[in-house]
Amino acid sequence: MAKRVVKRPVAGRARKAGAGGAPAGKRAESYAHPEASSLLRPDVGVQAQFRKKKPPQRYRYDSSLAPALNWDGQNPGREIGEWLLALIREAAALPAPHAFETPRTMRAGEAVIEVRSLADAVDQLERLGRPFLDWAGKAERVSFEVPTLPLFLHERLSTQAILETLKGHKRDRQLDMFQLFADPQRPVHDQVLRAYEYPDKWVNRMVLGDSLVVMSSLLHYEGLGGQVHMIYMDPPYGVKFGSNFQPFVRRRDVKHNDDGDMTREPEMVKAYRDTWELGLHSYLSYMRDRLLLARELLSPSGSIFVQISDENVHHVREVMDEIFATRNFCGLIVVQKTGGLGASGLKAVADYILWYARDAERLKYRQLFRRKVVGLGEGSGARYDQLLSPDGMTVRPLTAEERDDPSRIPSEWRPFQLTSLTSGAFRENTTVPYTFMGDVFHPGENACWKTTVDGLDRLARAGRIQKAGRTLRYRRFLDDFPAFEITNVWDDVAGAADKVYVVQTSTSVVARCMLMTTDPGDLVLDPTCGSGTTAYVAEQWGRRWITIDTSRVPLALARQRLLTATFPYYQLKEDGRGPAGGFIYARRQNQKGEEVGGIVPHVTLKSIANDEPPDEEVLVDRPEVDGKVTRVTGPFTFEATIPTPVDFEGDGEEDAGAGVGEAHGTFVDRMLEVLRRSPVLHLTGNRTVALHHVRRPAKSLSLSAEAVVAKPGEREPAGARRPQGAPVSGATGGAGEVAEPRVDGDPVALVFGPENGAVSEKLVWEAAREAAAKRYTHLYVVGFAIQPNARELVEKCDATVGVPATYVQATPDLMMGDLLKNMRSSQIFSVCGLPDVRLRRRKAKGEERGDEYVVELRGLDVFDPATMDNDRLGGADVPAWLLDTDYNGLCFHVCQAFFPRTAAWDDLRRALKGEFDDAVWEHLAGAASTPFAAGESGTIAVKVIDDRGNELMVVKKLEDAEE
Ligand SMILES: C[S@@+](CC[C@H](N)C(=O)[O-])C[C@H]1O[C@@H](n2cnc3c(N)ncnc32)[C@H](O)[C@@H]1O
Repeated sequence: MAKRVVKRPVAGRARKAGAGGAPAGKRAESYAHPEASSLLRPDVGVQAQFRKKKPPQRYRYDSSLAPALNWDGQNPGREIGEWLLALIREAAALPAPHAFETPRTMRAGEAVIEVRSLADAVDQLERLGRPFLDWAGKAERVSFEVPTLPLFLHERLSTQAILETLKGHKRDRQLDMFQLFADPQRPVHDQVLRAYEYPDKWVNRMVLGDSLVVMSSLLHYEGLGGQVHMIYMDPPYGVKFGSNFQPFVRRRDVKHNDDGDMTREPEMVKAYRDTWELGLHSYLSYMRDRLLLARELLSPSGSIFVQISDENVHHVREVMDEIFATRNFCGLIVVQKTGGLGASGLKAVADYILWYARDAERLKYRQLFRRKVVGLGEGSGARYDQLLSPDGMTVRPLTAEERDDPSRIPSEWRPFQLTSLTSGAFRENTTVPYTFMGDVFHPGENACWKTTVDGLDRLARAGRIQKAGRTLRYRRFLDDFPAFEITNVWDDVAGAADKVYVVQTSTSVVARCMLMTTDPGDLVLDPTCGSGTTAYVAEQWGRRWITIDTSRVPLALARQRLLTATFPYYQLKEDGRGPAGGFIYARRQNQKGEEVGGIVPHVTLKSIANDEPPDEEVLVDRPEVDGKVTRVTGPFTFEATIPTPVDFEGDGEEDAGAGVGEAHGTFVDRMLEVLRRSPVLHLTGNRTVALHHVRRPAKSLSLSAEAVVAKPGEREPAGARRPQGAPVSGATGGAGEVAEPRVDGDPVALVFGPENGAVSEKLVWEAAREAAAKRYTHLYVVGFAIQPNARELVEKCDATVGVPATYVQATPDLMMGDLLKNMRSSQIFSVCGLPDVRLRRRKAKGEERGDEYVVELRGLDVFDPATMDNDRLGGADVPAWLLDTDYNGLCFHVCQAFFPRTAAWDDLRRALKGEFDDAVWEHLAGAASTPFAAGESGTIAVKVIDDRGNELMVVKKLEDAEE
């Protein structure tokens, strides 16, 4: 591995010049989190050597909630109840806080009940008698197992590093870049031997994988239990599941099970559509598993928010009551959405957010406020119906026009309302007459003034008292406190503008949840990343983030969204501490005298009457902004649970690979089942290859399946069946397979890569040799990921082994078992292209500068295995491509990121106006890189993201560059 120089870490702000020496003017900076750390995760390139295997983790539900435990006659519930009562008696005799020295336990069937304190025992006892939601399979499933997988680092991304590359191509800049990636450049042996031991600098994280597996990894590889301050979860709502899976990066107009690809496969529509009613049971198990792990991750003062629609909000709340306990319920937030169109009857225009605390008594809560607006009902803005002239001499009611449009209120006239100056009880020193402007007023025999006579005098001098018939009233001005507390009805959170993802949440919704329950520098997690709204909002508000998704399409969108985002620079209280030191808030007024800062006065009758300075309230969403700085997303990593197959045992068998073993057998069966249901491989341009007679081959050593590919132009009647036992042409027969009519076509072989790993070269080699020996006409290598050398072998299989091969990418969503039933077939298997990349060397302009290089993405070649033709997609027709100008073979550093033919970089371009030539930005929206200098490794890597989110990588040596 090439050694990389690490210079000064980029922490806090570089005030004199922008990071990387940007000239004065509007400069780009990001926040760092110098006080936080996380355990070193290994780069994907060291997987083969990584040995720290962990056994699967078993999670148990709270056994007192098992549906079998009803409190009656012979039921075990009775025994548990009596045991709990005894513990309550015992704990009550202990000194406060009535905790046992060691937890008391009792076995109930498979589960173990644990009681730590009096409160615990009371809680458990209460639960025994509480009604619960039951569903199919719940009683039997008292625990579940999750594989404990390490996370490998696949990419390091940094907007600042990209901007640095654009600034120039000098070698020293190139070296400086690794600190911009926050890459500590650990030697390989450290990564192999000390991974998950070394604390490293904190970097935000995007993770590809099932949330259950990733959360389990965070818990058991990294010990992150109890360290997450807030979780925002926006799961599929459990209805119309298909619409949560957007199959294309650049097409979000998907309707549930209704995209073009589905309608071309009517039998598939039927097979997938009718499963959800039954699937609700698995949906609830799906939610319960994930919520249980989420709870483990939450800090004692932490909160979880679950966004859900009205169809299942009641069920999910029941499940959350079980997992988090009813007493930790903090609220049900109603979020107005634009929707309900086309529905008959009462239009449903709300989604819901369920909010639970890890422990309501220790909850971190920051009150949020909304601005009071004259004429509007919220916060009683409508009650401010009077105006006082600037000289304090004239009072008049607001006109209807002024109420409708407060900008019509003449400047310096102050809106106010008249409120009571009395309270309803006799008090000796305040139930007295009071003289105001020559008239005597009395509060009434059974009432009193709200303040003393001295206080009333002060109010009068401050112009706060007004005659109203036979009594006196208090003038409360709108600007006494121009804000009001938010409630659980959020009808002012605009929907996501310019949505990139079909189910994108509005940023203001997530921002409110985050600002209410976290402080800057806290850690937030989203196990359902989608287009990355939580990460985006966390980045905006200086929170640390981890976001997870099982699909590549949303993660491709989220990466682009974060890399190209710009945010206000909120001033930090302590530069050296990053956001964790807090933001600066100040009191400020605009020209009209309105309070517009993050600190607002809270003037009250009491403060005036007692001659006290008014209280002040902090509006946490209004920190001071440094207008000279454009803030960009800080460095983040792209990680995945998908490692390469590794021989952990050292016995020559790849553990996660296509070796023997029960788990792999089950996995192959599942994949076969999926392939039979969706026997269509998708290519670019809506072309497909259909497989028939998919089945297990007899006596196979390495192959997973065989099938027949109909010759081009041939069509098979949908749903027809082959007579039992009829042989597949050209291949060895097998018994007990699904019968289909005979289709004349080419017999082909399939091999499935590992469930939790990438396809290895060894797997391709062995499968290809067997396929060639058995005279199959083609080998399909199906995997979730593939090692570069394995991919190379696939391409050269025909020449090397004598059988052509094609790599077929399977979507990682497949790992979610049951839910798969509702997935679009168009997303399951796709044939990815191979990038055609041209690397050129040229003399750099300027005297001392040596060679510079340019990469051009000429296109994506997609092989059609049915016609044996190559189809080409132009370089500028891909959704995204990334360039590492100094690839070390371990992890991809995104030095340049291209989003062709989009306006993705436009915000940043505008914000950094003048810093870069237009040509630079044009490169980033095209198919050719900006020039760069040679790095130490002498190697570059290009990663292309295709329309389905598949990632295709090529590596090139600089010495092979064209002149
Ligand atoms: C409703 S979307 C989230 C949208 C997100 N709030 C946004 O603003 O873009 C749900 C996401 O959860 C992902 N998902 C579903 N099941 C998952 C699982 N088991 N693990 C990880 N991600 C999952 C889907 O791929 C989808 O992107």
